[in-house]
Amino acid sequence: MRLQLQTWQDIDTYLTRSRGIMIPVGSTEQHGPNGLIGTDALCPEVIAWRAAEQCGAVVGPTISVGMAQHHLAFSGSITLRPSTLIAVIRDYVVSLARHGFERFYFLNGHGGNIATVNAAFSEIYAEASLNPGLDRPHIRCKLDNWFGFDSIAEISAELFGDGEGSHATPSEISVTQAAYPESIRPSNLPPAPPRPRPFYDANDYRVIHPDGRIASDSAAASPAAGERLIAASAASVVTSYQAFLAEA
Ligand code: NI
Repeated sequence: MRLQLQTWQDIDTYLTRSRGIMIPVGSTEQHGPNGLIGTDALCPEVIAWRAAEQCGAVVGPTISVGMAQHHLAFSGSITLRPSTLIAVIRDYVVSLARHGFERFYFLNGHGGNIATVNAAFSEIYAEASLNPGLDRPHIRCKLDNWFGFDSIAEISAELFGDGEGSHATPSEISVTQAAYPESIRPSNLPPAPPRPRPFYDANDYRVIHPDGRIASDSAAASPAAGERLIAASAASVVTSYQAFLAEA
């Protein structure tokens, strides 16, 4: 169930049976010539929705903009500063904690967010640790990456091999193709060349990765692959979320 499609009374009722919530977090950044700019937010969102149907969780509004400064030389990309994302996550969590939510499961779609999301969790815990008298539920936060489960690595390796690469991957583009078939962009691009060296700022990224992809065979994406990946990732999310809620 999606938080935004409930009433406040529905959430009061939900809180009598669960103190957990899933929150997708992603990015709004170029994904090469055939990948959608919303890919990193759309993937964890659709997977969280699927997982929530299976385990009865509520899914909060997606944090759709993340750490994407290195993509800003491509039109349409938007970034937050790390300090802004930390503040957004903190305010989501503290708002919902006021109502009684205690376990916050973030499903992430962008590797560049990981350090900052973990820093946000540290800020939230520091606030509680430094103010032990705070009248607030016992907050716990967990981060999983939709692409980080063993089942996803196995499917990606089977379907795409070395063509998976690391940005605008056929796996993530497949997930968006399954979820939004009307937005599929045909492509006969060759695989992107390997990464020649690490990139630094946005201009440097565009110099060494001129079409936006990093070592990915994005054209190998397909809706059928996306459906397999969504199903596998959602199953892993259900297991991980339920274990998180069951923690003593
Ligand atoms: Ni991505």
